[in-house]
Amino acid sequence: MPLRNQKNSFRYIAFEGIDGSGKSTQAKLFADYLENKGFCVFLTKEPGGSTDKIRDLLLNYRWSKRAELFLFLADRAENAREIKNKLDKGCIVVSDRCMYSTIAYQGFGEGLDIDFLEELNLFSTDGLKPDIVFCFDVDLETMNERVGKRDVIESKPRDFFYRVREGYRELAKRNDRFFLIDGKKKKEEVFGEVLRIWESL
Ligand code: TYD
Repeated sequence: MPLRNQKNSFRYIAFEGIDGSGKSTQAKLFADYLENKGFCVFLTKEPGGSTDKIRDLLLNYRWSKRAELFLFLADRAENAREIKNKLDKGCIVVSDRCMYSTIAYQGFGEGLDIDFLEELNLFSTDGLKPDIVFCFDVDLETMNERVGKRDVIESKPRDFFYRVREGYRELAKRNDRFFLIDGKKKKEEVFGEVLRIWESL
């Protein structure tokens, strides 16, 4: 169904945050909510929205930070094509992570140049970027409690995640429609906040 009844015209909505912030849960709740309203919804994720192969390489092997960056970008380039396709068909795209993860993790976390990463991100998506970002903020203790068995990236040191978290907070200050939400509350309360923002747009 096209975008009848929707007040705003935002169609590409991304969910962000450090590991254990609850973004995947919230992305799923949001996608279900829109589907129940009758919208065509495409729920996707990065890495791994269009192919599990690059995700597997990223999460199970150790890479230099530059090689890791290009794997994320390659994954994003593939995913962006599919996202465009769905947007052209009138669907709403709900994405569990997007280009801002690269800014937070590879930029703020790994120390790669952020302006350059922004250019690379837009190059990889051919200019496509999310209309709205909901970003869930949790402290590192909460992250540690919530994350079970750790993949290669989740095994990075605490100070890496400290920088990533601060990076997200900075991104919320720098970008319009990048909403920072307290992710420590119960999932229903957090989702209530997502909907309150969504309805207010
Ligand atoms: P995610 O799928 O959120 O992890 P999980 O399903 O295990 O909760 O993301 C995998 C990891 O990749 C996560 O630690 C964040 C990291 N990541 C980056 O470092 N850069 C990126 O550009 C993206 C998209 C993810």
